[in-house]
Parts: sequence; C-alpha cells; structure tokens
Amino acid sequence: MHVKELFAKAHHEKFAIGAFNVANIETMRAIVEAAAELASPVLIESSPGETKWMGARNVISVARNFSSEYGIPIFVNLDHAETFDECMVGIEAGYDLIHFDGSALSYKENMEITKKVVSEAHAKDLMVEAEIDRMARKSSEVYKEQITIEELKKTFSDPQKVREFVQATNVDTMATLFGNIHGIFPTQPPLDIGLLQKICEVIPDTFLSLHGGSGIPDSQVQQAIKIGGVVKVNINTEMRLAFRQTLEKTLQENTKELAMYKVLPPVIDAVKGVVRKKIKIFGSANKI
Ligand code: G3H
Repeated sequence: MHVKELFAKAHHEKFAIGAFNVANIETMRAIVEAAAELASPVLIESSPGETKWMGARNVISVARNFSSEYGIPIFVNLDHAETFDECMVGIEAGYDLIHFDGSALSYKENMEITKKVVSEAHAKDLMVEAEIDRMARKSSEVYKEQITIEELKKTFSDPQKVREFVQATNVDTMATLFGNIHGIFPTQPPLDIGLLQKICEVIPDTFLSLHGGSGIPDSQVQQAIKIGGVVKVNINTEMRLAFRQTLEKTLQENTKELAMYKVLPPVIDAVKGVVRKKIKIFGSANKI
C-alpha cells in the first residue's frame, strides 16, 4: 500500500496515523512492537537532528527490516527539514514522506522552496508536507511555565493563506496550527476546533498533520481527527520523557549491569506504552 492510499483511507474512515520520532533503535523497536500488537500502520519519523544522529539510510534500512519482520506497513517521514538540501537527504535515502518546514522563511521564499521539494519528491512518488506557520516552541520539552492562549493565537494558521499556499505548491499535506504546540505544558490551552473546521473547508482535498501531539488531551485529539482533515499526528516529547525517566530509574536500580541490552527492556516497554495509548486514541488499530 502506498502511504497516500493509507492517508486517503484514514481521511475517509476518520482515523489518524501516529508519526513517532526516533533517535535510536530502542525507540524504533518500541514503536513497531506496539503497532504490531495493535495491527496498526505507523509512521516512523526523524527530525534533521535525529536523522544526522542515526543516519538517513540507517533509519530507512531498520524501518524496512522491522516492517518485514513484524509484517506491518511502516512509512518513514523526514520531520521538520528546514532546507532544500535537508529534504534532498531524505528524498535520496528513500524516505516515503518529506516535511519541508519553511515557517522560518518569508512566505514567498517558503513557497519557492516548497515547489522545488514537491517537484523532486513527486518525481519519486513521495509525499510532501509543508508548513507556513511558526510554532511558538521549536523543541520538544516539558515546560514549567504556562503558555498563554494569546501567545498561541499568534501562531494560528490563516485558512485563506493555507489555501493559497496549497494551490500554488500542490503539496499533499499541510502542518496547520490551531492551538497545537511542541512540548508538554502545565495545562495545554484548548485546540481551536472551529479554526480547524474552517481550514478543512478551504482545502478539503489536502491532508492535515497535527504537530505537537504530546500533552494534548485525548478527547481534543480525537475531536480534531473526527473533523476529518487530520490524518497524521506527530508525537515526540511523551516518548522522550518515558525513555529518560525509565532509563534513570532502571540504572538506579541496576548499578552493576554493563550490558545495555539487559538494562534497556523496561525502557522499551515504557515507550511502547506511550505508543500503544496513542494508536488507540488515533483510531488506527486494526487498520492494516
Ligand atoms: O514533529 C514532531 C512533533 O510535532 C513533536 O511534538 O514533542 O509535542 O509530541 P511533541
């Protein structure tokens, strides 16, 4: 199945596929085992930093190996690439989806580079995601200070600008902002579902990607998916938090063991628990 068919199925049946970030094989294993247990398709993704750390071709090879080992569809997404050259790394390595995040650029420059990425990617039948609105927080962290709705509203997508951008670039998916934000906050301000509805109305044939999936209440994520456009939900912070907290606990409890493959299983289980929960919320279980 081509990932575009999966997105169309998700769009029609109103479910979403989790796009889970990876920076090591343990996290990849956790994602794949959770997806296999739930008979769910899944996206594995790497940001530019994660891609550099793992190596683009290694991400692809391990993902393809896991897909045949566990018998589930795994698609690989290059997450938040910020230059044309970064996109080309993913395109040449064999990623299935390319997210060009031009939100730091001018609208015009973003559009020009997005068109180039679309041309290269579509020539290889790959999907392209674009982004025009800058998230208020770039890195995935657990924040102590609250983010205000006023700060969030400054990032909100303008439906007409989104429509214009999609028409001009022919991207497959848009990362839109309607209250979603990277990271976890003491309390997450509510998503603006009304704005999401308006965005879906003006680009009914374009898939939407919900970034900043960590920390958003389950019911709000499900509401966004049910509106109909969101077919991809990105998750990183909650997995990173589970990984680090469990690793610290395991190392404190096991001060002698030097073989990490004997130390890490509880860490994989903890990350798996996050992924399992998300897959159930997104509705992609038994959708293989
Ligand atoms: O692209 C990656 C995700 O948007 C990460 O968001 O760390 O809030 O889950 P998150």
